[in-house]
Parts: sequence; C-alpha cells; structure tokens
Amino acid sequence: MSEINKEYYKAVAEIHKNELGGSDFLSSCSKKIIGYFYRCYEKDEKNILFTVDEKGEIAGFVFFTLAKDGLFSNFVKRNILQILLSPSAFYSLFKTMIMRKKRTLKHQYDVDIVYIAVGTKFRSKGYARKLLGMVEEYLKAHLICTYCLQVFKDNHRAVEFYEKYGFETIEEYSARGRIKLLMRKNIQYE
Ligand SMILES: CC(C)(COP(=O)(O)OP(=O)(O)OC[C@H]1O[C@@H](n2cnc3c(N)ncnc32)[C@H](O)[C@@H]1OP(=O)(O)O)[C@@H](O)C(=O)NCCC(=O)NCCS
Repeated sequence: MSEINKEYYKAVAEIHKNELGGSDFLSSCSKKIIGYFYRCYEKDEKNILFTVDEKGEIAGFVFFTLAKDGLFSNFVKRNILQILLSPSAFYSLFKTMIMRKKRTLKHQYDVDIVYIAVGTKFRSKGYARKLLGMVEEYLKAHLICTYCLQVFKDNHRAVEFYEKYGFETIEEYSARGRIKLLMRKNIQYE
C-alpha cells in the first residue's frame, strides 16, 4: 500500500476513534484496526467509504453498506488472526460477545449508514450534509429508494441533524443499556 493510502486510512481512523470511540465493537478497537477495517473495503462496491476534506485535510467521513447483515462478523472471520493479535480488538470482541443480546428489529433493511463522523474542528460547516449528499447520489445511481441508520437517542446533535436531513424514527429499542433509534429516509427522485 502506498504512503498516501496509509495516511488516508490513518486520518479516517483518527476521526472515527475520536468521534465515535467506544460506541460499538469496531469503535472500541485501536486506530490501527479501525484503519485496517476501512482498508479491507477499499475496492468493495457494497461497502463504501466517502470522505470530505478541507485544504487537503480529511474533515469527515461516511461509511455505508448496501448489505448490512454479517458486515462485522465477516470482518472478524476474515481477519481473526489480526484481531487475536491486537489486545484492544480482542478485548472489544470479547466484551461484545459477552454483552451480545439476540435482538430482532421489527423492520428489516439492507442499506445502512454504518458510521458518519466529522472532526470536531470541522463541525457545523455542512460537511455531514455533504457526505449524506454523496451517499444519496450513489444510492440513486443504484436505483435504491430508501436507507436507514441507527443512532443513540441521547446523541441529540446527530438526531437533530438526521431529522433536519429528512430521516424519521421508525423504531426504538435498547442497546448497551441505552435507547437507540432506527431511522429511515426515502430518497426523492425527480
Ligand atoms: C452529527 C455530525 C456528523 C454532524 O456533522 P456536521 O458536519 O457538524 O453537520 P453539518 O454542518 O453538515 O450540519 C447539517 C445540518 O445539521 C444542523 N446541525 C449541525 N449541528 C447541529 C446541532 N448541534 N444541533 C442542531 N442542529 C445541528 C445544522 O444546522 C445543519 O443544518 P443546515 O445545513 O440547514 O444549516 C457531527 O456532529 C459528528 O461527527 N458527531 C460525532 C459523531 C456522531 O455522533 N455520529 C453519528 C453517529 S450515528
């Protein structure tokens, strides 16, 4: 991998860890594993990473999938050695398995915004809006009509942002001792 690519994934992992750290299995891993996770999907058409930059510095990113089920378990299965060799990833996996609760959502869906984050110093400049715009362009090109995301209810900033962007809550459930919302947006085609 080229030095440019290495720096790119390092910058994405940095934002991911700083802004989403601890919220799930991947976010509890080290920056190295997080960067590795995104690199694994470099040329994948179903799991896509988009970034925005300001003067050459990565300001934020969105990672979304067209096929949500098995995303993390497949990553773990394919990279079990790296995970076992990384104390943070191993601990995070162990914790996730212990806390794992069999949960079935009432709504089934495939297309999901898995992660979106903007670096603190780049907030409120329209970057998240721009990232979701990029996602929708991609989904439109694939004739997809609807997409979802999950967010903690107490993440007021994010919930307000999604509502402003046209998402509506379709389900509420508890996860990791907190309330989570499943939100959905229908894409408008002219
Ligand atoms: C949520 C997040 C991605 C928003 O990023 P951002 O780049 O600051 O958002 P934008 O500047 O694109 O804002 C888009 C809209 O949301 C609104 N918005 C932004 N921050 C807001 C806030 N704190 N309260 C209310 N509305 C807000 C803006 O007014 C803007 O509307 P406008 O375009 O009509 O002016 C960012 O706060 C973040 O990275 N948070 C930490 C990670 C996170 O929680 N991710 C979501 C996990 S599900």
